[in-house]
Amino acid sequence: MNASRYPSLKTISLALLVALASCSAPEESAPDESAAIYNTSLTTQEVMALVLEPASDILWDSGGWVLDAAGYEELYPTTDAGWEYVRAQAAVVVESGNMLALPGRAVDDDAWMVYSQGLSDAGLMAMEAAAAQNEEDFFQAGAQIYSVCSACHQAYNPDIVDRFVDQE
Ligand code: HEC
Repeated sequence: MNASRYPSLKTISLALLVALASCSAPEESAPDESAAIYNTSLTTQEVMALVLEPASDILWDSGGWVLDAAGYEELYPTTDAGWEYVRAQAAVVVESGNMLALPGRAVDDDAWMVYSQGLSDAGLMAMEAAAAQNEEDFFQAGAQIYSVCSACHQAYNPDIVDRFVDQE
């Protein structure tokens, strides 16, 4: 009759599930920041140069038209796979907003956060437009992303704005 003295395996795993679920339940009080472990060993400069800029460059190179020797060339993706690819780059932009807002990377709790959120919002617009394969919306989202980049650089690193323009 030992078995009845111990909870069955099923009971244990259920209890575990409940415990796990309560761990991940959203908390009402502000989370203790010391409990959260974020790896912020990449500097903001590295996040910009290695994560955010490559993804957003692909977006900007995938919207609009260029006039070259061969005439007008449309830059928008022309296949489902092409649109999926730019949608994935837009997802990188969305999550980059979160990366910039992480404790240890965020510069302040004010405008920096507004720009970071603005980046994620604009990235979501681009994701939706890519999913819908809507060229006009995709172009607008690209412009929106660009304006958030510029606004944050203007506020936090004016030198970058000049470099940006030089690259155009
Ligand atoms: C929340 C503010 C913020 C946003 C939004 C932001 N940046 Fe930056 N960016 C910075 C700061 C601050 C630096 C300077 C980092 C440093 O050198 O310490 C920087 C630097 C850069 C650099 C220079 C990196 C280097 O190698 O020196 C590039 C390129 C760049 N950003 C691209 C972008 C692009 C593209 C976007 C938008 C898709 C963007 N940034 C959005 C804050 C921002």
